[in-house]
Amino acid sequence: MSLSPEQRQELIRLLEAGEDISPEWARVLFPPEKREYELVYHGKDPEGDIISDTLAVPLQPVRTFGRNGENWHNMLIFGDNLQVMKTLLEMKKAGRLCNADGTPGVRLIYIDPPFATKQDFRGTEDQKAYQDKLKGAVFIEFLRKRLILLRELLADDGTIYVHMDFRKAHYIKVILDELFWGFEFAEVMWLCGLMGSGKFFPKAHETIFCYKSTKGNFNPPPRLGYSERITGALQKDKDGWFYTRGRESSGGSNYLKTYICNNPRLSKEEAIREATKNRPQTAWSVWIGKEDLAHKFNDYPVGTYAYTEHEKVGYPTQKPEPLLERIINASSEKGDIVLDAFPGSGTTMAVAEKLRRRWIGIDCGKLAIYTIQKRMLNLRREIGNKGPKLDPKPFSLYNAGLYDFSKLKELPWQDWRFFALQLFQCRDEQHKIGGIEFDGYRKGASVMVFKHMEAKHKDARITEDTIQEIHEAVGSRVGNRVFIIAPALTFDFQQDYIDFDKVRYYALRIPYSIIHELHRREFTALKQPSDEMAVNDTVEAVGFDFIRTPELKYRTGTEKAKGELFEYGFIKIETFKSDAVVREPFKKKGNLETLSMVMLDFDYDERAKVFDLDEVHYASDIEKDGWKVRFLKDRISKKMMAVFLDIYGNEARVLIDAAEFGKGTGKDAPKKNRKKK
Ligand SMILES: C[S@@+](CC[C@H](N)C(=O)[O-])C[C@H]1O[C@@H](n2cnc3c(N)ncnc32)[C@H](O)[C@@H]1O
Repeated sequence: MSLSPEQRQELIRLLEAGEDISPEWARVLFPPEKREYELVYHGKDPEGDIISDTLAVPLQPVRTFGRNGENWHNMLIFGDNLQVMKTLLEMKKAGRLCNADGTPGVRLIYIDPPFATKQDFRGTEDQKAYQDKLKGAVFIEFLRKRLILLRELLADDGTIYVHMDFRKAHYIKVILDELFWGFEFAEVMWLCGLMGSGKFFPKAHETIFCYKSTKGNFNPPPRLGYSERITGALQKDKDGWFYTRGRESSGGSNYLKTYICNNPRLSKEEAIREATKNRPQTAWSVWIGKEDLAHKFNDYPVGTYAYTEHEKVGYPTQKPEPLLERIINASSEKGDIVLDAFPGSGTTMAVAEKLRRRWIGIDCGKLAIYTIQKRMLNLRREIGNKGPKLDPKPFSLYNAGLYDFSKLKELPWQDWRFFALQLFQCRDEQHKIGGIEFDGYRKGASVMVFKHMEAKHKDARITEDTIQEIHEAVGSRVGNRVFIIAPALTFDFQQDYIDFDKVRYYALRIPYSIIHELHRREFTALKQPSDEMAVNDTVEAVGFDFIRTPELKYRTGTEKAKGELFEYGFIKIETFKSDAVVREPFKKKGNLETLSMVMLDFDYDERAKVFDLDEVHYASDIEKDGWKVRFLKDRISKKMMAVFLDIYGNEARVLIDAAEFGKGTGKDAPKKNRKKK
């Protein structure tokens, strides 16, 4: 350590004054070893802890679209990706996450995570504040944790692409180098269109970091064909062969002929096609002009991300399909698993489907999940979403971390048992102690999943006497902790645990009552955004919860304000209250503070029962409108489904008849007071 006299004095002053020592001192006090460098920041956890501390959450199937055909189902998962990836990792270890060629693990990962914290968007007002840097470190660690799990999920010959922009790309590059050591690296500058306020240099590109395992495959983009300049100038000789004429490439002054194909019977178009096909160089090693190459690979029209009208689904930060087409074609084959752990509008899923890959998408936003569901059910065959309709291969929608207890109750015993063991992180391993059957282990202690469905246990309750009976049979041979899992109503006592001699019997209730003593971290909710800016926020949910339908009262009506051309329908929200176990402090705004957004499907199909998202209204806008959700009356056909989402991911759904908005009656709608059905 080489402190200057001034530094020494400053340090002594800080210590004596009892002031905080800022992290900048770390490098001075503990200089890194000379041969290594790494990104050091507050809160960087050891890799091993990240993997072992992450809770694997069971996947609860919600619905399967399409017929169950093969042994693989594409997966769309609602949940925090960190916890879900831990579950997928267990599937990989169990051989249940395989590419079509049998290789375990994911062949290609593309992620486009939120680029930055809200602070980064706030401009100069407090850019230098330490608080911001701290938020930055939280963001980096948020992503690093996920990158560690992603690396574990990757097949031995896999490739990962990480999409970033200037705000955090440089930090994340250093982290990626730490994590993907030994991989081949390429940096892709994606020209995404000019963006900016006009007050400073615009943003013109985003960065995609690509790390390919040395065993991995890479399919270079095929050659692009002749430029228009060349095809326009093609000539035919007397024998019917097409050729170009150009100066010697050595710079000499002779004009030379270059024949493009040796079949004189072909038309010009056929000859061009043949010539392109038979010369398998990569796109960047060919003779076409740089300008053509740039047009093919850069999506550079001015404006946000340059996706076309056909593919636009109205989700902020949506990326264009041709970008994902290049990535998926370059680093995977048909039947390979493509994973996007931040899919947003589902561009990766849509393109993976078109290119016949297997896919998994995990998003913690309900808006994203409904957007992807709709997108997958309305796919067109061509990239850019044009051409004939494409029916997707079957895919299943899962909940992970927020469960529907009513569906759980209906599970057959074996499925219930499996879910219960997974929920509480137990190893499935049946064993007997003192004649009593146990189902597995949780951190070394025996676990019993109470057979509440068995006829002999029907309506049975777990009382203190039941526990005592178990204790008398197993005695101290069972160790000092035992876990009993059962539906909450089965337990006849309120305590989290009961002690007999030196053995503690824990009651693990479903739906869950959080026993803080058992968890290293507080549970937090799958937070949903209440304004459009927040759609791109990082979300970190820990643990799990059960769906609790919010209380909803509303009234419907129609109105046409002065000077307005069209008549609007509206839903005025009068009461909206949520009751989630895991919650964070929030600002109170009457009874409506837990509303996140209202999503509308104007022509709900009651037979198919698929919510087909048409419009989203964020709580921040609804509040500005006096808690009214307003929409063009003419958009409704017979029935409208409205989904009221709370900030914890719970939904209150209502099906509203078009007649309530005066449709089909010829009259104006009567104002009605309603409660959730
Ligand atoms: C930039 S958007 C992705 C856009 C996407 N590439 C597209 O083409 O539409 C990032 C997404 O990450 C999701 N997200 C943020 N934190 C997450 C988490 N912890 N787990 C899963 N998804 C998360 C957000 O809900 C958002 O949909």
